Amino acid sequence: MPTKAKLPNTQKFDYQEVLRDVARSMVRLKRPDRLLKLITRFIDQQFGLAHASLLVFDPKKGHYVFVHSKGTKRLPMGLVKFDSDHPLVQWFSGSKKKLPFQKDFLFLSDVKKMLSRAEFRMASNSKGDQLAGIQKTMQNLKVELLVPGYFKDALVGLLMLGRRVNGRCFTTQEVTFFQTLAHDCSMAVKTAEYNQNLVEQNQELAKRLEEIERMRNKEQRTYYEIMRSLAEEVHAKEPYIFSHVSEVERLGMMTAREMGMDLSGKTKDLLSAALILHDVGKIGIPDNILCKPGQLTQEEWRVMKTHVEKGARILEPLTDFKKVREIIMSHHERFDGSGYPRGLKGDEISIEARIISVVDSFHAIVSSRCYREGRSIDSAIHEVRNCAGTQFDPVVVDAFLRALRTELQKKGEIPSALAEHAAD
Ligand SMILES: [Fe+2]
Repeated sequence: MPTKAKLPNTQKFDYQEVLRDVARSMVRLKRPDRLLKLITRFIDQQFGLAHASLLVFDPKKGHYVFVHSKGTKRLPMGLVKFDSDHPLVQWFSGSKKKLPFQKDFLFLSDVKKMLSRAEFRMASNSKGDQLAGIQKTMQNLKVELLVPGYFKDALVGLLMLGRRVNGRCFTTQEVTFFQTLAHDCSMAVKTAEYNQNLVEQNQELAKRLEEIERMRNKEQRTYYEIMRSLAEEVHAKEPYIFSHVSEVERLGMMTAREMGMDLSGKTKDLLSAALILHDVGKIGIPDNILCKPGQLTQEEWRVMKTHVEKGARILEPLTDFKKVREIIMSHHERFDGSGYPRGLKGDEISIEARIISVVDSFHAIVSSRCYREGRSIDSAIHEVRNCAGTQFDPVVVDAFLRALRTELQKKGEIPSALAEHAAD
């Protein structure tokens, strides 16, 4: 700040150097308050004034207030405020008028001179009233010189300077210097205001985005819950396999864990949702086909197969579950490419869909239906194993059987088919 150019009051100092210092400080300081304080103090010290004060417009309060005052006769902060209709504010805010004195600064002596002129002394003269108001204010506040600061023609603030203690008058060069400082102060105030608005706007934007995200998550969650209920509803039509959804989920997660898949965060949620929702499309299949005890006709079978696309369509609004839709679309594909609806094979089928294929089939075999009894675990294990490499991915089958063996071993119920598997 202007400290480098500080010299005794009686000596001349380098105005340009001081202004360069101010400019540098403006770049460095994010908050203008400190800069305004330094400028006020600097003027007071360098020019030996009764006081140097700064009045700045506060956009939140809607009026001008003193932000700083230095000197032996400093003005009390917070007590004085000027509204936009105050004569002082009006004088510097109004458009340029044909007055004998320019509006870029105003000496008390000039106000007195103007008021002594007949044209301003008339009782009905509004300009005279305005000047009288200005004179009164300047005298009350012991102000000798007023220097306004503008930003884009709007009055940002006023530099109010008291009389010099040594009685000397201000020179033209000094007034020009004050004008430049007032301009710099206005720039600093406006830049800070702009930055503050930007910060507030960003905070507001972040808050709104957060709210939108929160609402979106809530909406997605609600939709997911509805889908889950629908998925359970599908199997609730067949009371014997009411627990199918949760069992398929449990077996699928167990297999994925056995395969060493990353089951943290979103990956786990996706697999879990796919395991639960894979047959949600069956809600669109007529009951006479879905619950038919006997063999389906060719036409009924064609309708039954559409549950894959129906399920994917139902999940369309769940934008977070795009991958789940793809898994659902593939859960009836077969490892050898003979499945539906697209005839994908091997790695073309997502690993999650290959897992669903195994655990869903296994659980369907061991579950009792209204038209048949569930088969034994041994029988289901043989069937799953026999279909490894054709219907199922052999790696998934292997992992599933390993995991199943570990689980049943804990219960002391290892079926013979798995004892065989362990021996392999
Ligand atoms: Fe299915």
